[in-house]
Amino acid sequence: MATKVSIRSDSGKLRRVAVVGGGLAGLMTALKLAEVNVPVDIFSLVPVKRSHSVCAQGGINASVNTKGEGDSPDIHFAETVYGGDFLANQPLVKGMAQAAPDLVYLLDRMGVPFNRTPEGLIDFRRFGGTLFHRTAYAGATTGQQLLYALDEQVRRFEMKLASDERGLAIPGEPLVRKLEYWDFLETVRDDSGVCVGLVAQDLKSMAVKSFPYDAVVLATGGCGIVFGKSTLSVICTGTAAASAYSQGAVYANGEFIQVHPTAIPGADKLRLISESARGEGGRVWVPKDATDARAPKDIPEKERDYFLERTYPGYGNLVPRDIASRAIFKTCFHEGRGIRNSSTGKNEHEVYLDLSHKDEKFLRSKLAGILEIYEKFVGVDPYKNPMKVFPAVHYSMGGLWTDFEATADGLPVQGSPRNHATSIPGLYAVGEVDYQYHGANRLGANSLLSCLYGGTLTGPAVASYRAAMARSAFDLPKSIFDKAEKRCHDAFEQSLKQNQDSDKAENPYLLHQELGELMLRDCTIERDNATLDKVIGSLGELGERYQQVRCPDQSPRVNQGAPFVRHLGNMLRLSRVIAEGARARDESRGAHFKPAFENRNDADWLRTTLASAKEDGTPRFIRDFTYDCAGKSVSINDKVDVSLEKPRARKYEVAGAASKGGAA
Ligand code: FUM
Repeated sequence: MATKVSIRSDSGKLRRVAVVGGGLAGLMTALKLAEVNVPVDIFSLVPVKRSHSVCAQGGINASVNTKGEGDSPDIHFAETVYGGDFLANQPLVKGMAQAAPDLVYLLDRMGVPFNRTPEGLIDFRRFGGTLFHRTAYAGATTGQQLLYALDEQVRRFEMKLASDERGLAIPGEPLVRKLEYWDFLETVRDDSGVCVGLVAQDLKSMAVKSFPYDAVVLATGGCGIVFGKSTLSVICTGTAAASAYSQGAVYANGEFIQVHPTAIPGADKLRLISESARGEGGRVWVPKDATDARAPKDIPEKERDYFLERTYPGYGNLVPRDIASRAIFKTCFHEGRGIRNSSTGKNEHEVYLDLSHKDEKFLRSKLAGILEIYEKFVGVDPYKNPMKVFPAVHYSMGGLWTDFEATADGLPVQGSPRNHATSIPGLYAVGEVDYQYHGANRLGANSLLSCLYGGTLTGPAVASYRAAMARSAFDLPKSIFDKAEKRCHDAFEQSLKQNQDSDKAENPYLLHQELGELMLRDCTIERDNATLDKVIGSLGELGERYQQVRCPDQSPRVNQGAPFVRHLGNMLRLSRVIAEGARARDESRGAHFKPAFENRNDADWLRTTLASAKEDGTPRFIRDFTYDCAGKSVSINDKVDVSLEKPRARKYEVAGAASKGGAA
């Protein structure tokens, strides 16, 4: 379809689209567009190869059933929606699970060095929420290997020229161009609210510039830095999503934030110790006697409490992350049974993650990447000693609301312009920044998959959208772009000048620290309405203090302070969406847990939280809305599509309960 579309606008300009974000979701989307001769510009805050996908460790799920366990894409689908506590729209999850084996084989052909079985087949390991070996992996640096492989593929299209209707190469117009070190500021919209381009800032020259595009795809990742300390990279502030939300994009299920059970406790970035450590046999424990301050190797087996195995015999150390994190939290905070510090006599908020019973050669071939991180940052040899870990904010299941179109038998319609469309026409979202695949809790190793699968849907969707456009963005009056550029430029200049002489000026880094501490303490594993009311009040105060922020950096080039001030404003907006969504949802589902409402409530809450920004940026929760896509008005409501797998109680005490009918 896309190849028949004129590659030039009526005024003779090459009709490009933009992908913002160079991680797996962005690169796959760009590849799919370039393959059908749609020219793409990729914007990235950092070098593409440093996108946050590079941090993914443990693997990517695909039910290939190499070990003859009876696994299948249908079971992968069923376990994913069960793990997500039935909040995911099911057709997309089904499409993702079905596509997974081919995606893994594709990556293999691209040269990803997946670990192999002795027979030379791709090896698969166990991960959370399943009893099957379903996770393909490249040691414990899988995200890095996938990102580098995809980057190589995209580079091919940086060398290839776009071609005209006769198939002739257009000089000087590569199919893919990369703009690295650019910060997305906002979309440019025409008079009817359609996204026709973007404004971005070059983080070296600090120039603010607008660009026309026929469509814009946000593949900008998660927002974990709202919580201060997390396993996410410091670029994951959610700034692009918050900006789109402020401009009218609906934000969905913001309150669902994943806390990973096992990270290295620390003062700054929290380094992840992958779930694959448990997938390869790692065991979580604390001493049975909370006052036992002996070195872990001196504590005999019978004096250890393997509390996950004890409480959840069916799935043991590989219960889904929401459950494992809550169990660790309960052990440390509520029961005071975290590891005893022999010097202070205090029980720390830490538990053991133990691989020291495993053969060192085996561990080196499977987990060297993460064990090296532990040794480097803690100074203790994890091959011989149990590691000390604690849960950390890791992923956002919520994100920009995006659409999909399904066939009668419940699979996504390939090439539908509705797939991954946000509520702003012409703006798409894919990867962690969207909300579609993981419901209330993501199963480990499904995120690399959803990024890649989402990219395979988004590329064709954007191509169809572009094909149906009545008028290219490249034929619009320049004044539309100049106006947006000026507004962003003025806002940037203002942020440099404001409060410079004020004695009440606020330091943005300290304000962010306060925001992070507040959100981390009161809006993660356990939530309470009275506390959330206070959090929302405090967020209002932080918002007011934000008006007093003084930019700490006046450099005309490579100014790192000014973008941080901007991101902080956007983090404050997103934190309201997260906290107010949590306050409203009076039930417990997946990662959202309120002890005062400890059960899931399908009658009232089997629905998507839809947040729309009010004039002042605070959220208004809506139940339905309409948006335009490729010339059609589409009506949306907050019902979850559970047409394929009926919601049922979620229990991991019994082996096989997660797969359909408990048939694992
Ligand atoms: O534990 C991990 O390796 C993380 C994987 C994921 O978040 O999917």
